[in-house]
Amino acid sequence: MKKCKITVVGAGNVGATTGQRIAEMQLGDVVLVDIVEDMPQGKALDLTQAAPVLGHDCAVTGSNGYEATAGSDIVVITSGIARKPGMSRDDLLQTNVKIVKDVTSKIVAQSPDCILIIVSNPLDAMTYVAHKVSGFPRERIMGMAGVLDSARFRAFIAMELKVSVENIHAFVLGGHGDSMVPSTRYTTVAGVPVEELIPADRLAQIVQRTRDGGAEIVKLLKSGSAYYAPAAAVAEMAEAIVRDKKKILPVAALCQGEYGVDGLFVGVPAKLGAKGMEGVFEIKLSGEEAAALNKSADAVEKLCREVDAML
Ligand code: LAC
Repeated sequence: MKKCKITVVGAGNVGATTGQRIAEMQLGDVVLVDIVEDMPQGKALDLTQAAPVLGHDCAVTGSNGYEATAGSDIVVITSGIARKPGMSRDDLLQTNVKIVKDVTSKIVAQSPDCILIIVSNPLDAMTYVAHKVSGFPRERIMGMAGVLDSARFRAFIAMELKVSVENIHAFVLGGHGDSMVPSTRYTTVAGVPVEELIPADRLAQIVQRTRDGGAEIVKLLKSGSAYYAPAAAVAEMAEAIVRDKKKILPVAALCQGEYGVDGLFVGVPAKLGAKGMEGVFEIKLSGEEAAALNKSADAVEKLCREVDAML
């Protein structure tokens, strides 16, 4: 069977850690691309030398150009600047639109049939940029945020209840921004609704910590943003695609009427399999949840209209 080829553009902390996880999970051969001379080659060589110890046979190569990415099955775009303490993801818009536009056109020229996973921030708007530039159908383009935001929510709930993270199932919907919507109603602990286990005021604090989860790490790191959890989240999405798992995961998908959203990428539960984003999974929202999702979609739309003026 043909091995998958997975390119990761941007070999900084998020990109290199994503490449590492993908190789260690044996999802396919990895190409790391970065503009910094020799850096992706160096990281690729280091990861190659870890392989005998870890026992996998996925090739990891590094490149400063795009020829090496030709014929990729999946391409993860992590390029762009990260937040500094006190900045919101939206403050990155101007700079990252240019970067993501350039990277997407170079990737698409080499791998016209790939599935794109966007990680650059502001996430939902950058996925929109890559969609506009690539012209890919919605099955082959999605953004990573929901898995990360849900993982943060799950981690905090597990810490609160002192139970295994594996028992926590959670969905965070909406944009990957301050208005994201952690759904407490659909969050369960071993199948039991979390609302029955954690008092409402405490749960509200956990929801807020989830919304601020990225900023909390930016503040602690002082330079750069989170990367272990983002990389793990991308790898889970890539695994669902490579292994055709038909896994329902929250991702930034192009909504075409679902959840009352049309023409925007926002975080919704979607089915991931060999074809990519194989369908938006519609769940019934309460009036309050629907209103919060709408508000979040409005924030995403505002950024996308700014993007339209820049493309
Ligand atoms: C975060 C950044 C990567 O949420 O958006 O950590």
